[in-house]
Amino acid sequence: MKIAIIGQGYVGLTISVFASKYFRVIGFDSNKEVVNRLNSGISHIEGVESSAIAKSIKTGSYAATFEASDISDSDIVVIAVPTPLTPDREPDLRFIDAACKTIGENVTKSVLVINESTSYPGTLRNFIKPTVEKYSKKSIKHLYAISPERVDPGRSDFNQKNTPRLYAGLSVEASKKTRDFYSKFCDNLVEVSSPEVAEAAKLFENTFRQVNIALVNEFAQIAHSLGISVYETLDAANTKPYGFMKFSPGAGVGGHCIPVDPTYLAAVAEEHGVPATFIRRANEVNLEMSKYIVSRVVADNGGNLIGKNVLVVGVAYKPNVSDVRETAAALVIEHLRHQGAVVSWHDDIVGTWEGESSVPLGGADVTVVVTKHDLVDEKKILASAPYVFDTTGKVKGAKGL
Ligand SMILES: NC(=O)c1ccc[n+]([C@@H]2O[C@H](COP(=O)([O-])OP(=O)(O)OC[C@H]3O[C@@H](n4cnc5c(N)ncnc54)[C@H](O)[C@@H]3O)[C@@H](O)[C@H]2O)c1
Repeated sequence: MKIAIIGQGYVGLTISVFASKYFRVIGFDSNKEVVNRLNSGISHIEGVESSAIAKSIKTGSYAATFEASDISDSDIVVIAVPTPLTPDREPDLRFIDAACKTIGENVTKSVLVINESTSYPGTLRNFIKPTVEKYSKKSIKHLYAISPERVDPGRSDFNQKNTPRLYAGLSVEASKKTRDFYSKFCDNLVEVSSPEVAEAAKLFENTFRQVNIALVNEFAQIAHSLGISVYETLDAANTKPYGFMKFSPGAGVGGHCIPVDPTYLAAVAEEHGVPATFIRRANEVNLEMSKYIVSRVVADNGGNLIGKNVLVVGVAYKPNVSDVRETAAALVIEHLRHQGAVVSWHDDIVGTWEGESSVPLGGADVTVVVTKHDLVDEKKILASAPYVFDTTGKVKGAKGL
C-alpha cells in the first residue's frame, strides 16, 4: 500500500516515520526547503531522528515531495496540516482547504482520506468531504475518516505505538480500513461512534489542560497575596490519592495546541448558541499571566524597569524543544519593553527568533525565567543577575510565583 501524508511537520513527519516501517510513504509538503532537507535525510522535528528518515529513504519506504502529482496513485491520504486561528482568533481552515484541493485534483482512484489535523466537530463531514469532492472527478468516490493526533513533541515515554488512538469513519468501510492502517503501528485503537465524537474529544482534551492551567495560574496569584507558596500548596493538595490532578503555574500557555484548540471548541459552541464562558475566560487568564509576572518584577525593582537590562531565559514554549509557536515569552518580552526595559533573551535551543539571537547567560540587571530547558544550568541562571524571577518553579533560590 502507498500512503501519502500531506504536511511533513510535527504530526505528519512523526506519522510518516512510523508508517514507513510497514508501508511505502510519500510525504507531501508545500515547503520546498523542508522537502529538500528531508530527502537528504535531515529531520527538522524534535523526536524524529534524522537516522530514521535516512534509513527509510535508503530502503525506498519513504520519500518527501512537493509535486502534488506524486500522491496520485496512493491508497490512503492522511491530512496533517496546520489549523491555526485567523487574526480575529477564529478557526482558520485554509490549510485544510488547500490539502483537500490537492487531494481532489491529484488522486486518480478511490482512496481513504484520514484527517489527523485538529479541528471542530463536523469538519470531516461538512468541510473535508465536500471540499475534496468539489475538486475531484465525479466518478471517484473516496472514503473519509478522522483520527486526531495526540503526539507530544519531545516526549519519549508516549509515542505513536503506545498512545491510544481515537478513530471514526464516515462509513463502516472507512472505519475498518482506518483500523487496519493504524493497527500496524499503534497498540491501542479506540473506535468512537462518529467522527464528531473523535473531533470533539481531541478539542476537549486540550481544553481540559487550558482551563486547569488557567485555574492554577489564578491560584498562584491568590497564594502570593496570602503570603503562601503556590508550589508547596499544590504539593500538599497532590497528596490526596484521588480527585486531584496537579497542574503547574507559569507565564502562560504556548505551542500549537493549548492556546488554539479551545478556541475551536468555543467557536463551534457559540455557533450553536452555547456560550463558552469558561473557555474564553481561561484563555484570558492565561494571556494575562505575562502582565502579572511583569507587574511582580516591576514591584520588586523599585516600581519601574526603565533602562534596566532584562534577560529572558527560555523563549521556547516548553522545555527542551525549539518550538516558539504562541510562546508566552513573546508577551512577557512585550510587557517588559513596555515598562522601559532593554530586553534580550537566552535560549540556545531556539538560537534565533523574530530577527534576534540568543545572547550569553549573564551580565543582566534582572533575569526572568520563562522556560527552563534541562541543559541550562540553575547556578548560572542565579548568577546571571542580582535579581532573578523564575516563572517555572525550577530555579531554587530565585524569586518566583
Ligand atoms: N504539534 C503538535 O504537537 C500537535 C499535536 C497534535 C495535533 N496537532 C495538530 O496537527 C496539525 C498539524 O500540526 P503540526 O504541528 O504538524 O504543524 P507543522 O506546522 O509542524 O507542520 C505542518 C506542515 O504542513 C505543511 N503544509 C501546510 N499547508 C500545506 C498544504 N496545503 N500542502 C502540503 N503541506 C502543507 C507546512 O509546510 C508544514 O511543514 C494541526 O491541526 C495541529 O493542531 C499538532
